[in-house]
Amino acid sequence: SITQPPQVAWASGQFTNGPLIRKSTRLQNLTHVFMDEKAWLACDPQQIVYDVEMVDSAPIAGALYTGVTHLQPGKVGDEYFMTRGHFHAQREQGEVYYGLRGSGLLLLQDEKGTARLEPVFPGSVHIIPGFTAHRLINTGNDILSALAVWPCAAGHDYAALTQGFNLRVVEEVGRVQLKEYHHD
Ligand code: PA5
Ligand code: NI
Repeated sequence: SITQPPQVAWASGQFTNGPLIRKSTRLQNLTHVFMDEKAWLACDPQQIVYDVEMVDSAPIAGALYTGVTHLQPGKVGDEYFMTRGHFHAQREQGEVYYGLRGSGLLLLQDEKGTARLEPVFPGSVHIIPGFTAHRLINTGNDILSALAVWPCAAGHDYAALTQGFNLRVVEEVGRVQLKEYHHD
Protein backbone atom coordinates (compact mmCIF):
# COMPACT_ATOMS: atom_id res chain seq x y z
CA SER A 1 0.00 0.00 0.00
CA ILE A 2 1.03 3.62 -0.43
CA THR A 3 0.75 6.09 2.46
CA GLN A 4 1.30 9.80 2.00
CA PRO A 5 4.25 11.02 4.04
CA PRO A 6 4.40 14.41 5.71
CA GLN A 7 5.63 17.01 3.23
CA VAL A 8 7.80 20.04 3.87
CA ALA A 9 8.30 22.96 1.46
CA TRP A 10 12.09 23.38 1.47
CA ALA A 11 12.00 27.11 0.77
CA SER A 12 9.75 27.98 3.71
CA GLY A 13 9.96 25.00 6.02
CA GLN A 14 6.17 24.80 6.02
CA PHE A 15 4.62 21.36 6.42
CA THR A 16 1.67 20.70 4.15
CA ASN A 17 0.73 17.23 5.36
CA GLY A 18 0.51 15.93 8.92
CA PRO A 19 0.15 14.58 11.51
CA LEU A 20 1.74 17.60 13.18
CA ILE A 21 2.22 19.16 16.61
CA ARG A 22 2.77 22.94 16.91
CA LYS A 23 4.21 24.95 19.74
CA SER A 24 4.75 28.70 19.97
CA THR A 25 7.30 30.24 22.32
CA ARG A 26 6.63 33.87 23.27
CA LEU A 27 8.80 36.47 24.97
CA GLN A 28 6.92 35.85 28.22
CA ASN A 29 8.08 32.22 28.15
CA LEU A 30 11.75 33.22 27.88
CA THR A 31 12.45 34.42 31.43
CA HIS A 32 16.18 35.05 32.07
CA VAL A 33 17.08 33.98 28.55
CA PHE A 34 18.17 37.39 27.26
CA MET A 35 20.98 39.41 28.87
CA ASP A 36 19.08 42.70 29.14
CA GLU A 37 16.33 42.10 31.71
CA LYS A 38 15.07 45.69 31.45
CA ALA A 39 14.74 45.51 27.67
CA TRP A 40 12.97 42.14 27.98
CA LEU A 41 10.43 43.61 30.45
CA ALA A 42 9.76 46.49 28.04
CA CYS A 43 8.87 44.11 25.16
CA ASP A 44 5.39 42.82 24.30
CA PRO A 45 5.20 39.60 26.35
CA GLN A 46 2.81 38.08 23.80
CA GLN A 47 5.21 38.43 20.90
CA ILE A 48 6.08 35.09 19.36
CA VAL A 49 9.83 34.45 19.18
CA TYR A 50 9.68 30.99 17.60
CA ASP A 51 7.31 28.29 16.45
CA VAL A 52 8.17 24.62 16.28
CA GLU A 53 6.15 22.35 14.02
CA MET A 54 6.96 18.68 14.37
CA VAL A 55 5.75 15.42 12.93
CA ASP A 56 3.64 13.66 15.55
CA SER A 57 5.50 10.35 15.55
CA ALA A 58 5.29 7.68 18.25
CA PRO A 59 8.12 7.82 20.80
CA ILE A 60 9.05 4.17 20.52
CA ALA A 61 12.57 2.85 21.14
CA GLY A 62 14.94 3.81 18.35
CA ALA A 63 12.53 6.24 16.67
CA LEU A 64 13.45 9.71 15.43
CA TYR A 65 11.59 13.01 15.61
CA THR A 66 11.50 15.56 12.81
CA GLY A 67 10.54 19.20 13.28
CA VAL A 68 11.01 22.67 11.85
CA THR A 69 11.80 25.72 13.98
CA HIS A 70 10.71 29.11 12.63
CA LEU A 71 12.64 31.80 14.50
CA GLN A 72 11.41 35.37 14.05
CA PRO A 73 13.80 38.25 13.34
CA GLY A 74 14.10 40.69 16.21
CA LYS A 75 16.12 41.67 19.25
CA VAL A 76 15.75 42.13 22.99
CA GLY A 77 17.90 45.17 23.63
CA ASP A 78 20.82 44.53 21.28
CA GLU A 79 20.66 40.72 21.57
CA TYR A 80 19.19 38.85 18.62
CA PHE A 81 16.14 36.60 19.00
CA MET A 82 17.14 33.04 19.75
CA THR A 83 15.76 29.74 20.97
CA ARG A 84 16.07 28.86 24.66
CA GLY A 85 18.62 26.17 23.85
CA HIS A 86 19.22 22.89 25.63
CA PHE A 87 21.33 19.83 26.30
CA HIS A 88 19.65 16.53 25.62
CA ALA A 89 18.52 14.77 28.80
CA GLN A 90 20.36 11.73 27.45
CA ARG A 91 23.61 13.64 27.03
CA GLU A 92 25.21 11.31 24.47
CA GLN A 93 22.40 11.77 21.94
CA GLY A 94 23.16 13.94 18.91
CA GLU A 95 20.96 15.79 16.42
CA VAL A 96 21.12 17.12 12.87
CA TYR A 97 19.93 20.60 11.85
CA TYR A 98 19.42 21.72 8.24
CA GLY A 99 19.14 25.39 7.37
CA LEU A 100 16.11 26.07 5.14
CA ARG A 101 15.52 29.82 5.03
CA GLY A 102 16.92 33.03 6.40
CA SER A 103 20.32 33.44 7.98
CA GLY A 104 21.66 33.09 11.46
CA LEU A 105 23.92 31.11 13.73
CA LEU A 106 23.87 27.80 15.52
CA LEU A 107 25.50 28.14 18.92
CA LEU A 108 27.06 24.95 20.27
CA GLN A 109 28.42 24.66 23.80
CA ASP A 110 30.04 21.60 25.35
CA GLU A 111 29.88 20.52 28.99
CA LYS A 112 33.11 22.38 29.80
CA GLY A 113 31.41 25.58 28.65
CA THR A 114 33.40 25.94 25.42
CA ALA A 115 31.18 27.59 22.83
CA ARG A 116 31.41 27.78 19.03
CA LEU A 117 29.17 28.97 16.21
CA GLU A 118 28.21 27.69 12.78
CA PRO A 119 26.52 29.94 10.20
CA VAL A 120 23.01 28.74 9.24
CA PHE A 121 21.79 29.34 5.69
CA PRO A 122 19.57 27.52 3.17
CA GLY A 123 21.23 24.14 2.63
CA SER A 124 23.58 24.23 5.63
CA VAL A 125 23.94 20.89 7.45
CA HIS A 126 24.85 20.86 11.13
CA ILE A 127 25.97 17.73 12.92
CA ILE A 128 25.35 18.36 16.61
CA PRO A 129 27.39 15.86 18.59
CA GLY A 130 26.30 14.37 21.90
CA PHE A 131 27.14 16.25 25.10
CA THR A 132 26.58 19.57 23.27
CA ALA A 133 23.97 22.22 24.05
CA HIS A 134 22.48 23.94 21.01
CA ARG A 135 20.65 27.18 20.28
CA LEU A 136 19.54 28.93 17.08
CA ILE A 137 20.09 32.68 16.72
CA ASN A 138 18.45 34.81 14.03
CA THR A 139 20.88 37.51 12.90
CA GLY A 140 18.93 38.30 9.71
CA ASN A 141 15.89 40.34 8.77
CA ASP A 142 13.78 37.36 7.68
CA ILE A 143 12.41 34.32 9.49
CA LEU A 144 15.13 31.74 10.14
CA SER A 145 13.78 28.25 9.51
CA ALA A 146 15.72 25.07 10.24
CA LEU A 147 14.72 21.42 10.09
CA ALA A 148 15.91 19.14 12.87
CA VAL A 149 16.06 15.36 13.27
CA TRP A 150 16.77 13.89 16.70
CA PRO A 151 16.26 10.65 18.63
CA CYS A 152 12.99 10.42 20.58
CA ALA A 153 15.09 9.05 23.43
CA ALA A 154 17.17 12.25 23.63
CA GLY A 155 14.74 14.36 25.67
CA HIS A 156 15.44 17.99 26.63
CA ASP A 157 17.35 19.31 29.60
CA TYR A 158 16.75 23.05 29.90
CA ALA A 159 17.63 23.29 33.59
CA ALA A 160 21.30 22.43 33.06
CA LEU A 161 21.70 25.74 31.22
CA THR A 162 20.24 28.10 33.81
CA GLN A 163 23.67 29.76 33.86
CA GLY A 164 23.08 30.38 30.18
CA PHE A 165 25.38 30.13 27.23
CA ASN A 166 28.85 31.69 27.51
CA LEU A 167 28.68 33.34 24.11
CA ARG A 168 26.11 35.98 23.14
CA VAL A 169 25.34 37.48 19.76
CA VAL A 170 24.40 41.14 19.62
CA GLU A 171 24.04 43.91 17.07
CA GLU A 172 26.38 46.86 17.53
CA VAL A 173 26.34 49.76 15.11
CA GLY A 174 24.46 47.62 12.63
CA ARG A 175 26.91 44.72 12.78
CA VAL A 176 26.85 41.23 14.28
CA GLN A 177 29.17 41.08 17.29
CA LEU A 178 30.07 38.22 19.61
CA LYS A 179 30.32 38.72 23.35
CA GLU A 180 31.69 36.47 26.07
CA TYR A 181 29.10 36.31 28.79
CA HIS A 182 29.37 34.86 32.25
CA HIS A 183 26.45 34.88 34.64
CA ASP A 184 27.18 36.02 38.19
O1 PA5 B 1 15.22 19.45 18.83
C1 PA5 B 1 15.71 20.58 18.78
O2 PA5 B 1 16.85 20.85 19.18
C2 PA5 B 1 14.85 21.70 18.22
O3 PA5 B 1 13.70 21.17 17.63
C3 PA5 B 1 14.49 22.65 19.36
O4 PA5 B 1 13.76 21.98 20.34
C4 PA5 B 1 13.75 23.88 18.86
O5 PA5 B 1 14.59 24.63 18.01
C5 PA5 B 1 13.30 24.81 20.00
O6 PA5 B 1 14.39 25.13 20.83
P1 PA5 B 1 14.29 24.86 22.39
O7 PA5 B 1 13.86 23.45 22.55
O8 PA5 B 1 15.68 25.08 22.90
O9 PA5 B 1 13.27 25.81 22.93
NI1 NI C 1 17.95 19.26 20.56
